Amino acid sequence: MPEPARSLTVAITGASGARYAVRLLERALPHFEPLYLTISRPAFQVMEQELGLKSAPEEFSPALLLPGHPQAKRICYCQPYDFGAPIASGSAAPDAMVIVPCSMGTVGRLAAGASDDLIHRAADVMLKERRRLILVPRETPLSLVHLRNLLAVTEAGAVVLPASPGFYHRPQTVEDLIDFVVSRILDHLGVRDPAAKRWGIAANEPE
Ligand SMILES: Cc1cc2nc3c(=O)[nH]c(=O)nc-3n(C[C@H](O)[C@H](O)[C@H](O)COP(=O)(O)O)c2cc1C
Repeated sequence: MPEPARSLTVAITGASGARYAVRLLERALPHFEPLYLTISRPAFQVMEQELGLKSAPEEFSPALLLPGHPQAKRICYCQPYDFGAPIASGSAAPDAMVIVPCSMGTVGRLAAGASDDLIHRAADVMLKERRRLILVPRETPLSLVHLRNLLAVTEAGAVVLPASPGFYHRPQTVEDLIDFVVSRILDHLGVRDPAAKRWGIAANEPE
């Protein structure tokens, strides 16, 4: 189990699977301070398609993703090209960053060190500062270019944690599948959720 991270950036890119990010925010909120959120421009298009969320990056507020959540106001939202945000600098970078879902476009940018928006820059900072960076890609099938880029970011220190839920816990709902992936992300952030489904261990049983 890795050391628990205390501060976190969650970044949403334009891959399919925005619901993974929403659930991660919900479950991460009690554990991280500060908790930054940044969203790429293409991700707003995907969120409209998948969540019915219609918002321009300039008008977005985290409460739109977590309506009624008492702690949603604690999330520090940073706009896609705000390079003045703390997460853009190694001097103020959080302990960990998760890009979920992570598009192949963003993986390619990171592999090439060619940052364009705040997500690329913040992830670049995590790599150069040797902090924890978790990428949750969602693409299938993978081309040779994708595979080479995933290898490059792994060699640079990132953890590639594909959005591929297991089925051995016999999921009954889409939420069960989402929670499987989110539990694995939280494990890698050092947050051990007793409700997480684990092979050979019943939920809430002492390990
Ligand atoms: C509805 C929708 C679903 C998409 N799903 C994926 C996907 O699963 N994986 C992926 O790599 N790109 C996907 N894309 C394409 C990306 O959004 C596109 O490559 C974009 O440039 C990624 O930019 P970003 O990484 O800055 O968010 C999707 C686009 C749309 C509109």
